[in-house]
Amino acid sequence: MKTDFEVLAALRNDSSVQRQLMIESKQYNTDQIRAWIRRRTRDLKGMFFVIESNGPCGFVQLTQIDLKTGSGDLGICLINSARGKGIAKIAMRQLEKRAMEKYRCKKFTLRVLRINHRAISFYKKLKYKIIEIKRRHHFDGSRWRDVIFMEKRLR
Ligand SMILES: CC(C)(COP(=O)(O)OP(=O)(O)OC[C@H]1O[C@@H](n2cnc3c(N)ncnc32)[C@H](O)[C@@H]1OP(=O)(O)O)[C@@H](O)C(=O)NCCC(=O)NCCS
Repeated sequence: MKTDFEVLAALRNDSSVQRQLMIESKQYNTDQIRAWIRRRTRDLKGMFFVIESNGPCGFVQLTQIDLKTGSGDLGICLINSARGKGIAKIAMRQLEKRAMEKYRCKKFTLRVLRINHRAISFYKKLKYKIIEIKRRHHFDGSRWRDVIFMEKRLR
């Protein structure tokens, strides 16, 4: 079975995941990946969890938690073989629960590329609403892409 680090490193260096998550497209070395995991796990305004289902298979995170407004910015990513199985939905529910308990979060926000139809369907299924569409907002290394801003009130 792969370790958490091996799975996170593979996702970090997967070029299609890099595009979907809007992070710089390049090969990250071990030190850079460790630094990313440290940033995420030590972020006092964030939460970061490895998703487990018969071993590590992705991560879910919250960043920019604002205690005044009760909002946090969501990110989620699974390895290919763990998609389409309902695992992401369970992980989202767990994150919502912990964010409500620990930070009294009331709202999750997120950004997604307009061409990422699968993620958009997934978020809509979980009752995220489209707040705004910014045309040609993100440059992915070859093209300017439209970005959809979504949010969900937690309950
Ligand atoms: C986004 C992600 C977490 C969703 O998890 P998942 O397990 O794939 O999600 P699900 O299969 O439960 O839901 C996806 C929905 O999109 C639908 N779907 C699948 N492929 C699709 C496509 N090409 N176009 C539109 N909808 C699609 C599925 O049918 C499903 O809906 P249904 O349950 O009503 O049938 C996962 O795909 C992932 O990690 N993607 C890569 C990283 C990423 O894009 N993260 C989001 C960045 S904002």
